[in-house]
Amino acid sequence: MSIILSPSILNADFGHLKSEIEMLNKSESDWVHLDIMDGVFVPNISFGTPVVEEVKRISVKPLDTHLMIINPDSYIDMFASFGVYNLTVHLETCKHLHRTVQYIKSKGMKAGVSVNPHTSVELLEDIIIDCDLVLIMSVNPGFGGQHFIENTYSRVSKLKEIILKRNSKALIEVDGGVELNNIGKLHQAGVDVFVVGSFIFKSKDPLNTIHQLKGKI
Ligand code: DX5
Ligand code: ZN
Repeated sequence: MSIILSPSILNADFGHLKSEIEMLNKSESDWVHLDIMDGVFVPNISFGTPVVEEVKRISVKPLDTHLMIINPDSYIDMFASFGVYNLTVHLETCKHLHRTVQYIKSKGMKAGVSVNPHTSVELLEDIIIDCDLVLIMSVNPGFGGQHFIENTYSRVSKLKEIILKRNSKALIEVDGGVELNNIGKLHQAGVDVFVVGSFIFKSKDPLNTIHQLKGKI
């Protein structure tokens, strides 16, 4: 299975968003990770739909969309109309997760489910067969540049066991505090998709940082 690097633009230079996306177009990265925050589910507000539309216009890479918002069901049609590749909702925000996942897929997008650091991955066992992707938060959602939570490795291993046991094709994505020092170990634990934000966008040479990260996985 191919390994996917999904740079998060949360810590990109929004004054030069076009050139940041053009840099990603030229890079060895695979997807573009978009963090949508509502200031209710998480204690921060990021960017909204005009930015998503603009990124879609410029990017040649699939858009990996991470909704950190309450009532995500109300926005599924809208994100489908933007042409995003996948739509990930938080388990903690969905009363009828099975229905939400089916609806995302019916709109032609890949369906992802994300879990906060305190949420047991075992809660996913009965939905895993329907998921295209599970996003394990390795920081508390809301901000870039936080420290990686070490317990993530054992959560990834547990989730991998559940995926194998249930014969699911779900990819495992990890988001938060990922960098050169932990990406290899995460890969060994079973991670397929790596979200990397500030480690890329705060580096002196983002293209080379992406090259180095890809070289480790
Ligand atoms: C946090 C977001 C992440 C964040 C990752 O709530 O979901 O995608 O941008 O940024 P880093 O890699 O800086 O932790
Ligand atoms: Zn994210």
